[in-house]
Amino acid sequence: MTSPLDRAPSRAPDAFAERVVAWQAAHGRNDLPWQNTQDPYRVWLSEIMLQQTQVVTVRSYFARFLERFPDVTVLASASLDDVLGLWSGLGYYSRARNLHRCAQHIMECHSGVFPATAELLETLPGIGRSTAAAIASLCFGERVAILDANVKRVVTRVLGFDADLAQGAHVRALWDAATQLLPTGKAASGAMARYTQGMMDLGATVCLPKSPDCAACPVRVDCVAGAAGDPQRYPVRTRKLKRSSQSIWLLWAQCDEGAVWLDKRPTPGVWAGLHCLPLFDSEESLKDAVPQPLKASLRVLPVFTHVLTHKDLYLHTWRLDVADRSVVWDAGRWIDAGAWPQVGLPAPIRKLLEQGIRV
Ligand code: ADE
Repeated sequence: MTSPLDRAPSRAPDAFAERVVAWQAAHGRNDLPWQNTQDPYRVWLSEIMLQQTQVVTVRSYFARFLERFPDVTVLASASLDDVLGLWSGLGYYSRARNLHRCAQHIMECHSGVFPATAELLETLPGIGRSTAAAIASLCFGERVAILDANVKRVVTRVLGFDADLAQGAHVRALWDAATQLLPTGKAASGAMARYTQGMMDLGATVCLPKSPDCAACPVRVDCVAGAAGDPQRYPVRTRKLKRSSQSIWLLWAQCDEGAVWLDKRPTPGVWAGLHCLPLFDSEESLKDAVPQPLKASLRVLPVFTHVLTHKDLYLHTWRLDVADRSVVWDAGRWIDAGAWPQVGLPAPIRKLLEQGIRV
């Protein structure tokens, strides 16, 4: 049997690319807020937001972010706290930290102008190969392949590429195969934006993980997996994420007038750079941090679970209502009732605090 590493797409690549492009024009998504522009700032911002977040959620964040930071110059001169504040609730905060660093890097090293090739874009903070290719093809018509999770699914199914993507060599072979499928010839550059969007749209709306709509697929005539009737078999990936669990203890101190004691999380670490209730690794250490006369006022709240990519976090919250701001801790500060909703908070902490002043 031919190894997928050696396997070149047997179909005429142009026929495949032309089908994707024609389908995108007729059936793809063409009115998303980050489309119909070749402004790399907007495309970059949308690609970063869309990496781990659904289109429906990104829409409102994208609009708010652009209103506050309309271009790379404004973003670069903003404070990281402001950027994290607007990102709050989207999760995966390293994206926001990299976005801010990347804007500053573009100001310092590229005179405020986005580099116009995938090769250079990939050297910027937070921009990987697929994101660089998305920006370069959507904005500059560069003939480069993207390969995010959705597109991996489309390409592996079309090619019947069954090598294990847990291995780097197989992933590299898939990149090569995806590159061979790109539009070719004189019109290639003009077709690239639509082709890239078409591959994303196919993965997101037709070539779904569990129940692909093969009847609606424009490339079913090319598709090895479709012909064999087993598209769900792809992509093949053996390595499973090892999940773990961890308990943490949170001290939720709040004054009568609603101010909350928040501490900024150190970098690196979980929730780096975000504001958070003081964290402890045991109930004893939390209690040790509370002055003796106040210990009797501590109240335990129900434990809740927050699911991260690699682990389940069990959050044990202890509430401490105090009359005023006279009690203070070594790190952190009291943040007013009207101010804490504006700062960057981890999603579960925001949820907790938003439950109300008196729990
Ligand atoms: N996911 C990643 N990039 C996207 C885009 N440009 N449009 C829709 N979904 C996407």
